Amino acid sequence: MHPKQRLENHYLEQRRVQFDFSNTPEHWIYDNPFATHLINAVHLILPVGELWMCRSFNEALPYVKDEKLSADVKGFVHQEAHHASAHKIAQGYLRHYDYDIDQFLVSLDNIFKQIDAAPFGFTLSSPLAYRWLTIRIGIAAAAEHFTTMLGTWCLEDQPWQNNTADKMMSDLMTWHLAEEVEHRSVAFDLYMYLCGEENKTFAYLQRQMIMLAIAPLFTFAIYHCFKKLAQQDAQARHYQNYGLLRSLALTAIENARSKQVPSFFAMISSLRHWVKPNYHPFYEGDTNKALQVLNHSPAVKALTKLRAC
Ligand SMILES: [Fe+2]
Ligand SMILES: [Fe+2]
Repeated sequence: MHPKQRLENHYLEQRRVQFDFSNTPEHWIYDNPFATHLINAVHLILPVGELWMCRSFNEALPYVKDEKLSADVKGFVHQEAHHASAHKIAQGYLRHYDYDIDQFLVSLDNIFKQIDAAPFGFTLSSPLAYRWLTIRIGIAAAAEHFTTMLGTWCLEDQPWQNNTADKMMSDLMTWHLAEEVEHRSVAFDLYMYLCGEENKTFAYLQRQMIMLAIAPLFTFAIYHCFKKLAQQDAQARHYQNYGLLRSLALTAIENARSKQVPSFFAMISSLRHWVKPNYHPFYEGDTNKALQVLNHSPAVKALTKLRAC
């Protein structure tokens, strides 16, 4: 049975959960500035990246004639748009503790605008515009591979439980990562659909090329944001002298010690799945587990209660 058929009966829903970080301490992963800043890096990167994906997916939607895939794409866009909103609220928590992030966010936004439908301001001819669209959806599929890996790690290890972290921020991260696992197949299915059944070999080769660019870029972007935040914190300032390799090694050490951050090496080793010709994200995560965790999220429970009123 094709993975798509397995998910046939599952429709994505947007959970418009709300978060309030007014009581969240600066080091929301208690006594762990390294883990706090590494995880907080996603508050900087994800909103702009997720909104870029929403724009690209909306652009792809008119080409999708498959009803279920079309519903999945719409569900994906709704979920990612709300992820971006929630992380924007978390950016307010960083501002509250005087982190200077706004100039950086503007630069990041400008970079993503350069890789929209008209790359670097160039208007593309119709066939090129379609090819560029498949590349952008391929970039989204590559990024979703990493968010799925992060989500699977989060669902399995439950890194911020047992009063080791602020409940509100932990809930935001867990809700987001569980939805990443829930919608893990959509970008890949859309990418394969746009490339066409008859172009499977080309689609395979193109997604390998995309990953060759995305894996180092994703790593460097997280590292850069981590340093940007750590250098503004007296308790974490020493990390600004850590080079990329030392910081990556520290993720493995911290993962073994506290389990509060994912190991970079586990992320990279997951690429052995991506290079398989029969790779499909369906096999990289567990939808039932994601739904179970979502049902226990305090923010989701509060939303369910609100809806029932
Ligand atoms: Fe997301
Ligand atoms: Fe996602």
